[in-house]
Amino acid sequence: MIRSVAKGAGSYLPERILTNGELAKMVDTSDEWIQERTGIRQRHIAAENEKTSDLGEKAARRALKDAGIEASEVDLIVLATATPDRTFPATATRIQARLGITHGAAFDVQAVCTGFIYAMATADNFLKSGQFKTALVIGAETFSRILDWEDRTTCVLFGDGAGAIVLQAEEVENPSNQDRGVLDSYLRSDGRHGDLLYVDGGPSSTQTVGHLRMAGREVFKHAVVNIAEAIEKSLEHTGLTIDDVDWFVPHQANQRILTATARRIGLPDEKVVTTVSKHGNTSAASVPLALVEALRDGRIKKGDLVLMEAMGGGFTWGSALVRW
Ligand code: UT7
Repeated sequence: MIRSVAKGAGSYLPERILTNGELAKMVDTSDEWIQERTGIRQRHIAAENEKTSDLGEKAARRALKDAGIEASEVDLIVLATATPDRTFPATATRIQARLGITHGAAFDVQAVCTGFIYAMATADNFLKSGQFKTALVIGAETFSRILDWEDRTTCVLFGDGAGAIVLQAEEVENPSNQDRGVLDSYLRSDGRHGDLLYVDGGPSSTQTVGHLRMAGREVFKHAVVNIAEAIEKSLEHTGLTIDDVDWFVPHQANQRILTATARRIGLPDEKVVTTVSKHGNTSAASVPLALVEALRDGRIKKGDLVLMEAMGGGFTWGSALVRW
């Protein structure tokens, strides 16, 4: 059987930091409100000439370096983004070209904040089927470009960034949940809730890019329930329990959601990787950004069981269990 094994990871945050204090000069908000309600202290904002492909390329190059794998070995790029450089072509193909890759396939997936989980599941299934051997899975976003900077209920929450991992197909005899690789991914969506978190523009409707709109309190309520459901499913599918999980790497939307979820599933705070204070909600980039931080500071080690989850517009939500 084939397993998709993680070989390396990398991330990138734009240089410019926007603090809560600076935001308080732009809209009617305060550092105190933002920290208390969300845990966010600052977010990174892409430079004017910096696009999603630039962020994604930097994260991808760092992931390849970490993996010790040449770009020429990559035959699949799956990029999760809701903020592509252009409506088409797929931003993944721009990154593919910049990495000098002229074989294989590259495409974007659109599941907003759940994008990285969807992209990883997609790559995992292609690798397991034998169709591709080495995949770059990237989450990259420039949400600063779709925010309404006069809407205090949303503009304080999001930021820009990118993260990537390299997955490689490996043959495993009689695989168990102790072997390395993606053990399970669980994907869900329910389009009935599309109007609770969306962008009010698009090529086919307004011919504009539009701005992000969110009914925050409603999304919050769904998030905690949906995330817990996804985690239960992933554990059930693998026969593992919450006590087997070494590290919980959740989507970084709101500290209160992370705390409530960890409590609901019975995970101690020490196992939760939290980076939301440093970069806010970076949508599809948030899971790999947190993952890379915990890899770099030595928390996540080879062989550790990592539980990831996310929830976002659509609604979409999902989880993944990876033996790193
Ligand atoms: O990644 C995709 C998933 N997204 C999420 O998971 C986001 C989920 N939602 C949330 O994180 C939270 O609902 C928010 C952080 C968006 C809002 O927190 P909340 O505790 O649900 O606050 P609220 O929306 O109930 O608003 C409370 C009050 C309101 O005032 P009134 O009506 O009580 O007078 C808001 O107008 O806070 C006000 N408010 C603000 N005040 C200062 C809303 N935004 C701000 C702000 N600064 N930036």
